[in-house]
Formats: sequence, C-alpha cells, structure tokens
Amino acid sequence: MRVQLTVNSRPYEAGDVWEGESLLFVLRERLGLWGSKNACEQGECGSCSVVLDGELVCACLVGAGQANGSEVVTVEGLGGADRLAAVQEAFLQAGAVQCGFCTPGLVVATHELLRRNPAPDDAEIREALAGNLCRCTGYEMILDAVRLAASWSAPK
Ligand code: FES
Ligand code: FES
Repeated sequence: MRVQLTVNSRPYEAGDVWEGESLLFVLRERLGLWGSKNACEQGECGSCSVVLDGELVCACLVGAGQANGSEVVTVEGLGGADRLAAVQEAFLQAGAVQCGFCTPGLVVATHELLRRNPAPDDAEIREALAGNLCRCTGYEMILDAVRLAASWSAPK
C-alpha cells in the first residue's frame, strides 16, 4: 500500500508499505528520520514518541496504514538546522541527557505537555512523562529540565 504523510510540515509518500508496518518503521527506515528511537517496539518505553494529528503517541504502536493522511511531528521538527528547541536546550542545560536513547521521546513528550499546559506542577509533569522510561538519569534531572523549559515558556 501507499502511505502519504505530512511530517514536520513536509509531504512524504512511501510505497510498498506492508500490512502491519508501523509508523515508526516508516519514519526511520523509509523516510530516514532516525530521531524517534526504537527500543521496545511494544509501547512500553516511549522512546518512539511522536505527535500524530495533535496527539502524543508511540509510533511503534501505530500502523502506517492508520496514519495515512496524517500530520506527524517528530523530534526533528521541533528545533531547526541551526537552533535547538527550548525543550532541547533545557535538557542540555539540566544535564538530563546521558546515553540519550530516551531523550528524543522525552523531548517530544515534554514539548507536547508544555503546549497543552505551559506551567505544569511536578505531579502533572510526572503523569505526562510516565510513559517515557529512562535507564540512566534517575529522572531527577529530567524533572529539572522540564521545570526549566516550563520557566521559559510559562506566561509571566
Ligand atoms: S519503541 Fe515504541 S514505546 Fe518503546
Ligand atoms: S539517558 Fe539513557 S535511557 Fe535516558
């Protein structure tokens, strides 16, 4: 089957997509967008988090066919070629990146949280990021990063 997507505001088309192929596979293997990571492929870790038609999803759980005609935002769509998005900058400044495998998913999930709620409290941050696992940081620096990004985005 053929799948058409708008990814990070650019139109893409993939041919010969097999039944059962995931959106994550299309993004990584067909479109060359390797920012979304493939860790568990079972919806358990959040490393493949993307925004699909305005909803945060695990791209490994979405069928490519289901996503046909949709708008997708991946981590590559958040910053620019020569600038980091505020959330990416906050993760760097807070030291919330170690191996980095979880980072793209966390950045996308944080970006989406702050879009919906620019001033989340700690409970709201923990709830929003509950689906994103990190084996390295112990989460405290990730919380710091989200608080920092929120401090930059919250209405003064
Ligand atoms: S790779 Fe999709 S949730 Fe882990
Ligand atoms: S920084 Fe290594 S899994 Fe999170």
